[in-house]
Amino acid sequence: MTLFAALKLVHMSCAFLSISGFTLRGYWMLSGNPLLRSRATRVVPHIIDSLLLATAVGMLFIWRVSPLQVDWLCAKIVALLAYIGLGMVALRFAKTARVKTIAWLLALCCAGYIIVVAYTKNPMGLMLLPPAA
Ligand code: HEM
Repeated sequence: MTLFAALKLVHMSCAFLSISGFTLRGYWMLSGNPLLRSRATRVVPHIIDSLLLATAVGMLFIWRVSPLQVDWLCAKIVALLAYIGLGMVALRFAKTARVKTIAWLLALCCAGYIIVVAYTKNPMGLMLLPPAA
């Protein structure tokens, strides 16, 4: 296995863990589960997300490209920032259950968009699909 393939495997695993963990924390938030405030719940996501970004940087280093040169990487970064911001609103800053829920669902939409862009390598994502006959 090449170094690139290993980095990509870790990157994809962290992406899966990051989004699953965020989905679970949102569920805990909505159901009032005290596990949301446990030490592990607060620390582990930072470790996974740091690894996710570090492996992305590693792959770009091997490719020798700046993410700003590649449109689908720019789209991933913008969507990632939106995912992080909406996630903070959902899990930390929002005061009402309604705002928390909306922010959580929008953050999950951003995560879905990031995955589609990762596979299609195109910022248009699902809009690339041919229209149904
Ligand atoms: C929540 C955030 C992210 C998720 C869910 C995610 C998800 C993925 C997935 C599923 C793949 C595999 C795609 C394939 O098999 O072709 C991938 C590949 C990749 N991602 Fe990410 N990613 C995220 C953030 C980022 C960021 C911020 C960057 C860098 C700006 C990045 C750079 C890359 C690169 C360079 C690849 C390799 C593409 C290839 O092999 O052709 N990712 N990502």
